[in-house]
Amino acid sequence: MPTGQKYTVDPARLDGVVSEPLFAAVAAEAAKQNVPAFAIGGYVRDRLIGRPCKDIDFVVEGDGMAFAEAVAQRLDAGPVHVFKNFGTAMFMLRDLQVEFVGARKESYNRNSRKPEVAPGTIKDDQERRDFTINALAISLNTGSLGALVDPFGGILHLDQGLLRTPLDPDITFSDDPLRMLRAVRFATQLGFTIDPVTFEAIQRNAKRLEIISAERIHTELNKIILAPRPSVGFILLRESGLMAEFFPEFLELAGAEEKFGIGHKDNFYHTLQVLDNVCAKSEDLWLRWAAVLHDIAKPVTKRFVPGIGWTFHGHEDKGARMVPKIFRRLKLPLDEQMKFVQKLVALHLRPIALTKEEVTDSAVRRLLFDAGDDIDALMILCRADITSKNEKKKDRYLRNYELVMQKLKDVEEKDRVRNFQPPITGEDIMRAFNIPPCKLIGDIKTVIKDAILDGVIQNDRAQAWQLMLEEGRKLGLEASGHPEP
Ligand code: CTP
Repeated sequence: MPTGQKYTVDPARLDGVVSEPLFAAVAAEAAKQNVPAFAIGGYVRDRLIGRPCKDIDFVVEGDGMAFAEAVAQRLDAGPVHVFKNFGTAMFMLRDLQVEFVGARKESYNRNSRKPEVAPGTIKDDQERRDFTINALAISLNTGSLGALVDPFGGILHLDQGLLRTPLDPDITFSDDPLRMLRAVRFATQLGFTIDPVTFEAIQRNAKRLEIISAERIHTELNKIILAPRPSVGFILLRESGLMAEFFPEFLELAGAEEKFGIGHKDNFYHTLQVLDNVCAKSEDLWLRWAAVLHDIAKPVTKRFVPGIGWTFHGHEDKGARMVPKIFRRLKLPLDEQMKFVQKLVALHLRPIALTKEEVTDSAVRRLLFDAGDDIDALMILCRADITSKNEKKKDRYLRNYELVMQKLKDVEEKDRVRNFQPPITGEDIMRAFNIPPCKLIGDIKTVIKDAILDGVIQNDRAQAWQLMLEEGRKLGLEASGHPEP
């Protein structure tokens, strides 16, 4: 199942690497201490395929922490941060994060606290890494300076666009079950294929994801969502059985039921198309999340209504209410970002629904009022949601969309309700009628807001003040005579 490899491997990209200051310093220190040292992992992979990389790992067959200090001194870099529990040391070289670790016989996993790792050789270290393409190393040692150390066919797999574990995948995945999710993430980011033997092992071991923290899971999931075409990853997540472990609501979207010959679209694939469409327009992680979740309540609101067909009535509100539960479980942020996602899910039908009748100024004003500064993001989501296969329908929706866009522009220029601030405050009302805080104040404010949104009065303080006085009179309030300030 090739997914569209985007990179080409070129070993010439390693030419000259050992004359670069960082590598030269590591090589010089390795020679001085007579300790074998290697650049390894993601940096080597990314350099071979010409992908930018902001961190670089070195492995030494010895004490990585002392070695890091010596290299930092040579480069006049530092300070060196030592993580004793992990046996690693790190320093920054401009914006490059440089990390050193002693070669180990046990699994390489940054998140496991295993202070008692047995020292090993470079080969021991390589075989305990996740994928062959991540186990490639460059020798920084006299006699083999600059040579690629590739005992598991990493360069071939990189060229073939293949993700395969160096060891029996059952071992690699039991060392760290998150690696199963990493396989899907790399497949999505790089357009690589997961080797069938490795993929079957993921299917077999998917349940083991239960021991992994929600933070580590969402970090990988977010990387999948931030890839150019996340649909690739979501399909792999479903087929591998991993999705069931952390995102059952999304699985529920799958399938198209039929009754009396009437079907509905498969909302799993529809959502993925919307997500890919959004990704073509925006890099914003949270807008992408809104696409992921926009129809999440369709399965729980689905009804078959005789004479009408399938309905998903209220799925936008129910969906918005489901967002916090999903975010909480995945330990995603529960603040502004979540509220933004909720808001977009709740409003996602509004722009197109608005065109069902004539597009009136007041409906557009209300949409601008409700969406505020998020109107542009909402319109991207809404445009991405037009996925009908029926060309006529699609054309109609697209025309309506353009109409709404134009109206939005016109109304906003005229009425400035995008970030509506009530022209009359509660304080004003209390002063005008000499009354204490009470429910009437909210009622009057609502009448003024509605009048502005409906175009009865303009978004203007003098007109709003007049309306307030009239409303107060109707409610039996007596004006204090306090003039309009
Ligand atoms: N690694 C591993 N198992 C893990 C995590 C990491 O074997 N669960 C190894 C891999 O060799 C990987 C290296 O540690 O290349 C560095 O890990 P990390 O920085 O997380 O990943 P990268 O491969 O560098 O990719 P990215 O920066 O895109 O996350």
